[in-house]
Amino acid sequence: MQRFDEYVAEALYGADGFYTSGRGIAGRRGGDFITSPEVGPLFGALVAEWVNRVWEQRGRPASFAVFDVGTGPGTLLRSLAAAEPECAQAWTLQGIDLATASELPGSLEGAVVIANELLDNVPFRWVRSSREDGEDGEEAFVANGAIAWRPFKGPLLAEGEYPLVEGAAALVQSVLDREPAGVLVFDYGAATTAELARRGGWLRCYREHQRSNDPLRNPGWWDITTDVPLDQLPFPAKTWTQAEFCAELGIEALVAEGRAYWRHHAAKPDLSAVRMRSRVSEAEALTDPTGLGAFWVAEWS
Ligand SMILES: C[S@@+](CC[C@H](N)C(=O)[O-])C[C@H]1O[C@@H](n2cnc3c(N)ncnc32)[C@H](O)[C@@H]1O
Repeated sequence: MQRFDEYVAEALYGADGFYTSGRGIAGRRGGDFITSPEVGPLFGALVAEWVNRVWEQRGRPASFAVFDVGTGPGTLLRSLAAAEPECAQAWTLQGIDLATASELPGSLEGAVVIANELLDNVPFRWVRSSREDGEDGEEAFVANGAIAWRPFKGPLLAEGEYPLVEGAAALVQSVLDREPAGVLVFDYGAATTAELARRGGWLRCYREHQRSNDPLRNPGWWDITTDVPLDQLPFPAKTWTQAEFCAELGIEALVAEGRAYWRHHAAKPDLSAVRMRSRVSEAEALTDPTGLGAFWVAEWS
């Protein structure tokens, strides 16, 4: 019998896990799920603007490191490089991923850390309770290919079923302990655990753009993720929805620039013109209130 988070860890990151095997891929074609960096380069341009602000606030250091943790195929890093903000003269870009056994350095002093859809993929526990302040909690284990409920000892955070994301919280804390200049994290979820418990449907499994709610199906061949409740993470300095973040970092100006560029080059469009035009549809996807636009964004500094 395995506690649910141990089961998820093995299914995703074990010897033949969904990610370690190379089966789990973000991407439009041939991938399993679409993430904001995979929508197109606009997301990277907005994140580059945020990195540039941190660089300015830090007094424009001559060099600083930018880490994308949970980088997957590294698409965000490529978009950051293409965006070429002013701070690009000083930054070094690096991707870190558990699946390739790369790790953050021991000190992150002066560095910037970004993570998109990382925390939902950190193995989580699954708890249920019938009374918010009672002692009736139960926790999911996996035994013989089925969920078995066992008594849960810890404090209960909400009534109903919810994820316990202590692994994700520990990961954020371990980054903060290394004293980076700034941390920016994007993910799906909700402000509170109670909200997730009320809403339900927080356990999400993906494969080849299909979604399932059954984490026991074909382990190693499906992604197993959870909506991430912000109230279980270290308290952030600032939060936005992704739509709000995009607005604050200037998505409208970037789209307007894209439209104008396209108008000038429409008669004889080159690759840049096609990319500029696609900002319009990318912006719609990134700010969609029923999709990526509803993601939470949190900054720690
Ligand atoms: C859903 S993918 C997101 C990929 C990419 N960031 C994107 O937005 O397209 C999550 C990635 O996080 C990685 N991952 C999970 N736990 C990790 C950890 N503790 N440290 C580093 N990477 C991790 C997985 O291997 C996977 O590549």
